[in-house]
This record gives sequence, C-alpha cells and structure tokens, in this order.
Amino acid sequence: MNEGGTIFMPPANSTIAGEVDALFYFIYYTALVMFAIVIAGSAFFILKYRHKGKKSFTSGMDHNFKLEVFWTVIPTILVFIVFAWGFKTYLKMNVAPRNAIEIKATGQKWFWSFDYPNGANSVNDLIVPANKPVKLLLSSRDVIHSFFVPDFRVKMDALPNRYTTLWFRAEQPGEHHLFCTEYCGTGHSAMLGKVKVVSEEEYNSWLNESGNIPGGMTPVEYGADLYQKRACVTCHSIDGRAGVAPSFKGRFGTVETLSNGESVTVDENYLRESILSPRAKVVAGYQPVMPTFQGILNDQQIDALIAYIKSLQ
Ligand code: CUA
Repeated sequence: MNEGGTIFMPPANSTIAGEVDALFYFIYYTALVMFAIVIAGSAFFILKYRHKGKKSFTSGMDHNFKLEVFWTVIPTILVFIVFAWGFKTYLKMNVAPRNAIEIKATGQKWFWSFDYPNGANSVNDLIVPANKPVKLLLSSRDVIHSFFVPDFRVKMDALPNRYTTLWFRAEQPGEHHLFCTEYCGTGHSAMLGKVKVVSEEEYNSWLNESGNIPGGMTPVEYGADLYQKRACVTCHSIDGRAGVAPSFKGRFGTVETLSNGESVTVDENYLRESILSPRAKVVAGYQPVMPTFQGILNDQQIDALIAYIKSLQ
C-alpha cells in the first residue's frame, strides 16, 4: 500500500481526497481551539472563584449583551463555513464527470463483483486506469453492503433493488484496500478487496485478456487462481477446516448428506450445479448462503475450478 498517511488519515490517493482532508482538519483544529478555550476558561474560573471560606454571594448580574453576541456570532460563522465548504465538496463527490468509465459493482454475501463496459468481470479486485474518472453503479444481490476505499475517501452503500453511484479518479498506479463497511453477516469481515490502479494500456490489455486461461497455466493452476480471485476462499477452506461452507479438501468423490436427508456423490456435475445453483443441493449442517456464479464464471472457469477441487485430495 502507498505511503503518506497521517495519524488520522490513510494516504490520500484520489482527486477528492485532498478536499475531504482539508475540511476534516479545519473542523478538527477549530474544535481543538474551542476545546482549549472552554477548558482553560473553566479552570480559570474554578480557581478564581473557588470558595475561600468567607461568606460571599454571587452578584445580581444575569447577562452580558456584548459577550452573548460574541459567542453566538462567531460559532454561527464557523458553522456556515463548514456547511458551505462541505456542500461544495459533497456536490463534487456526487456528480460524476460525463466522460467517466462506468463499471457495475455488485455486493453479495460475501464478495464484490465488477462488470466492465466490454463484458469482462472480476471479483474483489477492481481494476481501473489511473487518472481517469471511474463511476461505479452499485447494487446488492442480498442485504445492504457498503463500498469503501479509505485511500480515495469514497464510501457508498450497495442496496438490493436499487442503484447507487460513486465516482473517483485515482491519481497514480497502485493498490488500495477495498472494504465492505456495513455489517452484512458472518462473512462481513472477510469481504475484502483491492482497487488496482494501473496504466491505461495495462487496463485495456487486462480487459481484452480477461476470461481466458492465462498463457502457460494448467487448468488446476487456473482453478487455484480463480479460487482466490473469485472469492471462493472466503467460505471454502482447502485445509479441511469447516467454515461457513464445506472445505474443498478431500471432498471430491465423497458421498454427502443433504439438508433434505437425501445424499449425493460429489462429482463434476454436482460441483457445476452447486456453482450455478448453489441452493439446489445444500450439504446438511450448512446454511444456504452461497450466491450463484451464473454470469460471473464462464464454462472454462468452472471447468478449471472443478479440476482444482479434484486436485485437493
Ligand atoms: Cu458486505 Cu459487510
């Protein structure tokens, strides 16, 4: 990850980040000054008017016009500055430039998937070109998720049955954390991704190659790569540990009892069906939480994943 964060803020790597930070620090330092005045004033009065043993009465004074105007007008001006400044930045953050590249981003339990203008797709890794405005059209397949890239200072909820948008322009190539920042169930904390900012040429060549077996990879290697990149790893372990879902280790060829009491042999057809219609045959003891990968994985990729699962004996 890139350098350059402060104690309060992660590194600033989008065109809007500087403005967000400037406003944050304005509010922060103003509050600090106010805090110092209030605390120092309280301490001063506590000392000056402490009980000194003599019988004394407070004076009959109940207000001071000049003082009241002073402490009303100054905070009002400060609040208006914050409002005007915040509103200006808010508009900038919410109105995407017309020439922005539009990418569809979908949240679901528990990963992000991205669909690019040419039909390519990726899971958890959002690939974008540097120095180009990128607009995301967000939605969810199930519950509310929230798309958050701290380095860009952008955050937007992804809702079922509705679209929301967000845009950013990343300044230079690099990698940035992508979080789901709305509690969405057991796998929420594992719903992690990366925004990979690359040069425009790399972005275009990635778009063209996406979906093909990368040169020199065997189906098993490609399957292992997809297991990570398509987020199977979030729920299915490969070391035998049971998690939200059955482990892949030693699974191929076994006979599993299903939640409806029937049993099934874990073969190629069962794996393919479970990738495309995960809720058709759920192994007993597990919740039907897996989303479909219909439209996310092509046939070649499903074959590679099956080859990979077969290899985990
Ligand atoms: Cu998705 Cu939290």
